[in-house]
Amino acid sequence: MLDLYLLFKWLHIVSVISWMVGLLYLPRLFVYHADCGLESVQSETFKLMERRLYKVIMRPAMIASWLFGLALIYVRDMGWDLETWLILKLLLLCGLTGFHFYLSNLVTAFAANRVNQSPKFFRFINEIPTAVMLIVVLLAVFKPF
Ligand code: HEM
Repeated sequence: MLDLYLLFKWLHIVSVISWMVGLLYLPRLFVYHADCGLESVQSETFKLMERRLYKVIMRPAMIASWLFGLALIYVRDMGWDLETWLILKLLLLCGLTGFHFYLSNLVTAFAANRVNQSPKFFRFINEIPTAVMLIVVLLAVFKPF
C-alpha cells in the first residue's frame, strides 16, 4: 500500500527546494540588474532571466509547496489539529508568500525600467528568504512546541 504521507512529503520537500532556489536567486539577479543600468544591453538579458525564473520555476514551485504542504496536513495522523510549531511555520510562510509576490512586482517593474532601488537595497532583501528558510526548516525538523 503506497504511503501517501511519505509520497506527499517527498513532493513537498522537492517543491520547497525549487521555490527557495527562486526566492534566493531572483533578488541576486536584481542586484546585478540594478548595477548594470536599466538602459544597457545586459539589462535585456536580465529581464529575460528574471521573467523565466519567476514564471517557469518560482510560481509553479510555490503553488506545489502549498499544495503538498496542505496535503500533508490532510493525510497525517494529527490532521488539522495544528501544533504551535506548524501554526508559526504557516504564519512565516504567509509572509514568505507575500515576499514572493513583491518579487513578482519587481520583475514587472524591471521589465518596464521603472526601478529606482539601489543594488544595496536588493542585497539587503536577499537576506530575508535565507532567514525565513532557516527558521522554517528548524521548526519542521525539530517540531519544538
Ligand atoms: C508553503 C507552505 C507549506 C506548508 C503548508 C507546509 C506544511 C508542512 C507539513 C504539514 C509538514 C509535515 C509535518 C508533519 O510531519 O506533521 C511539512 C514538512 C516539512 N516542511 Fe513544510 N510546509 C510549507 C512550506 C515549507 C517550506 C517553504 C519549507 C522549507 C523552506 C518547508 C520544509 C519542510 C520540511 C523540511 C519538512 C519535513 C520535516 C520532517 O519530516 O522532518 N516547508 N511541511
